[in-house]
Amino acid sequence: MNQTPGPNTGTNLSYSKQPPLPIVVLISGNGSNLQAIIDAVDSKNLSVDIRAVISNKKDAYGLERAKKAGIPAETIPHADFDNREAFDKALIKKIDQYQPGLVVLAGFMRILTEDFVNHYQGRMMNIHPSLLPKFQGLNTHARALEENEKVHGASVHFVTNDLDSGPLIIQAQVPVHADDDEKSLATRVHEQEHKIYPLAIQWFAEERLSMKEQNAMLDGHKLQEPYILQDNKKSRTCN
Ligand code: GRF
Repeated sequence: MNQTPGPNTGTNLSYSKQPPLPIVVLISGNGSNLQAIIDAVDSKNLSVDIRAVISNKKDAYGLERAKKAGIPAETIPHADFDNREAFDKALIKKIDQYQPGLVVLAGFMRILTEDFVNHYQGRMMNIHPSLLPKFQGLNTHARALEENEKVHGASVHFVTNDLDSGPLIIQAQVPVHADDDEKSLATRVHEQEHKIYPLAIQWFAEERLSMKEQNAMLDGHKLQEPYILQDNKKSRTCN
């Protein structure tokens, strides 16, 4: 039976027969999305086993978050390698030691080689701070403000060889307020990222979500458009 996808799905894990999905999370910085994933596991809203967190930067705060949660935290500094290919090869070797069913990019600030992407085709996700296909690349919040967007947000997608263009899974929309600056807008988007990423990962863990022939499939159907999580928090605080 097909279930309608929704933000309340995947909260009933006590009835799940599947073992937790092994995942590896790649980060480069703060790791607030990593924290959201850790918290979702702790609160039994997400059935994954976070086997390791790997950073390309040794001072990434996300590594502390991982250690605090008792998750192996590893650093492979990209600067130690002669080129992108050598780094990605070492990264594949390290990731595969943990045998993940899914590789989760959570603020991993690297352009990936084709070999790397092909190796994890269909089992690697990314979160991007815009409503893709709008604002691929960097500085998404500043660009949304510059272009007077009324609605902004975040997207979770499967990773393919086209940068920030893989099959979309879920998006969260947030309003852009007249008095927003980059920071206030980023904060609003981040709050939503922390909801949609654990949800998409849970769908994958439940085998409701997969990638087939460059399409995201949910409950056996091709997602023609990403699932949209609306920001239903209407009230505003003045700051
Ligand atoms: C997020 O905005 C995410 O969308 C982007 O990088 C940022 C990572 O933030 N890919 P954090 O490290 O998870 O706090």
